[in-house]
Amino acid sequence: MLTPTLVILSLKYAVGAVTLLLCFSLFAVANGKVKLHGRINLIFFILTLAALFLFEIVVRMIDPVLFSGLWKDAELAKSLKVHLCFAVPSALLMGIMLFTGLKKWKLLHRWVAVVFLTCWVGTFYTGIFWLPNYVEVNNKTASYRAQ
Ligand code: HEM
Repeated sequence: MLTPTLVILSLKYAVGAVTLLLCFSLFAVANGKVKLHGRINLIFFILTLAALFLFEIVVRMIDPVLFSGLWKDAELAKSLKVHLCFAVPSALLMGIMLFTGLKKWKLLHRWVAVVFLTCWVGTFYTGIFWLPNYVEVNNKTASYRAQ
């Protein structure tokens, strides 16, 4: 059954997995393997976008009430808002990173990389360590237990 716990845990694993890919790509570029860096990041981009689309489909189309309860818990809503402050810019910057990389706009690619990496670290940290692993939702409110 589709539950907020299942959705949040799946997203945590997805963020962890694509972060591993990003680390490999940075290792590749640090060793002069620019083509490999580009290919790994193309996969990183596609997987991250696919996870985002899946999440949006679940939240907005399949079960819109599934997540609405979470915003009723003040503390959880705060964690979600902080997480989104990093995750939304990360998603936008990821597109700019792919574009500038493919266009070989080297200087811009490197400057945006600094901002992107900062946002991504924030997305990773707040997503994996701030959001709870277990969420219990009842009709009126959401209670949660972080593990
Ligand atoms: C976050 C830290 C990143 C750093 C430090 C970085 C750095 C670099 C560097 C140094 C290059 C070689 C071109 C140059 O001399 O500037 C490059 C190329 C490239 N990067 Fe990145 N990058 C990062 C993230 C990304 C991301 C997130 C993407 C895509 C989503 C991406 C896609 C590409 C592509 C497609 C190329 C061209 C590869 C080719 O020439 O075949 N990069 N990057």
